Amino acid sequence: MRRVKAGVIGTGLIGPIHVEALRRLGFVDVIALAEVDKELAECKAEQMNIEKAYGDFRELLEDPEVEVVHNCTPNFLHFQITKAALEADKDVVSEKPLAMTSSESAELVNLANKKGLVNALDFNYRYYPLIQQARRMAEKGEIGEIYTVHGSYLQDWLYLDTDYNWRLEPERGGESRAVADIGSHWCDLIQFITGAKITSVYGDLATIHPIRKKPLVEVETYAGKELKPGEYEEIKITTEDYATVLLRFDNGARGAFTLSQVSAGRKNRFYFEIDGSRKAIAWDQERPNEMWIGYREKPNEILIKDPSLLDAEAKGYADYPGGHPEGYSGGIKHFLKNVYSFIASGKNPNRDKPNFSTFLDGHHEILICEAVLESSRKKVWIDVKY
Ligand SMILES: NC(=O)c1ccc[n+]([C@@H]2O[C@H](COP(=O)([O-])OP(=O)(O)OC[C@H]3O[C@@H](n4cnc5c(N)ncnc54)[C@H](O)[C@@H]3O)[C@@H](O)[C@H]2O)c1
Repeated sequence: MRRVKAGVIGTGLIGPIHVEALRRLGFVDVIALAEVDKELAECKAEQMNIEKAYGDFRELLEDPEVEVVHNCTPNFLHFQITKAALEADKDVVSEKPLAMTSSESAELVNLANKKGLVNALDFNYRYYPLIQQARRMAEKGEIGEIYTVHGSYLQDWLYLDTDYNWRLEPERGGESRAVADIGSHWCDLIQFITGAKITSVYGDLATIHPIRKKPLVEVETYAGKELKPGEYEEIKITTEDYATVLLRFDNGARGAFTLSQVSAGRKNRFYFEIDGSRKAIAWDQERPNEMWIGYREKPNEILIKDPSLLDAEAKGYADYPGGHPEGYSGGIKHFLKNVYSFIASGKNPNRDKPNFSTFLDGHHEILICEAVLESSRKKVWIDVKY
């Protein structure tokens, strides 16, 4: 495998996770990073032992050595940076959401297609071993006809009205918060496993803390739980802390999910159940090495992640033997392994089918999110406008 050179823009929470995952692949060199200013860039480059530190993302895009750009900045910068990266003929790995609106995300999909550049969107939960197993089970008809799909995605990092992050500001996070930030993962994963498309939605959204206390210093994601800033300003919040969304799928299945970023004790509890005519399956991201399998005619089972028990195609996503847990960091690693193997072997997304989530998947998620917002405003079912 030839070596590939990467540059990462934005090194708060997720940027360093990308860097670590890339290094674990063994054939990718992270040669550059860009941050808001030169001082922060140099500090982060020192911490992560990265050769080049840029104080402006445009300088990283002008670096001819950088082949692949990772956009790990806050949401409001995704469109601008990704568009500039594609225009500079770089392959791009973008964090979700792809952009702030569906007109922006459609433009990025078209530009990437026109240029024939690799475009990847980090829906990292697809790449867990038991999620790959669930997909194979659905594909092979083992779950049977899908009757219903339901679950939740619950967190507590914005539980208190003193918890603060740029995601709370629509100008930086987008018009939607819980639905765009974590609902996007839920919808993507369910569609990935079942192969069914969400066609209509009915959303009920709520802002539990309509006023929050914004610290007078910038807070990196999750860092607010440990910070105790003394001074705040009061900010009116318009994005949702909570949502429940009813779903209809193109295969006739029905479903629902609840999202919350104010559920005490739930850290990153991404949970689903899929009820089929042959069995049901359930999975919880906080216990990612176990899949519950439910039967009517015999006792239920727990499938423990163990490569020797997985389908041939899912096995490759489990790197360790049974009893050796794998989870979040392995998901991103396998996502990037698929992306970089595609690049290193000279494949072209206009000719070869990518085995990773792309900008088109990111665009579809934004369309679903916009339909949920419209439904919540109008209090009616809304069809997703693919
Ligand atoms: N897929 C996942 O599991 C996952 C998890 C966390 C975050 N994310 C996504 O990643 C993105 C970043 O989230 P985060 O939690 O890491 O945020 P963060 O606030 O922790 O980090 C953002 C970083 O971007 C930097 N930045 C801001 N403006 C910049 C600019 N103009 N040029 C270069 N760098 C700039 C900030 O200084 C900061 O270091 C978001 O879009 C989020 O949705 C995805």
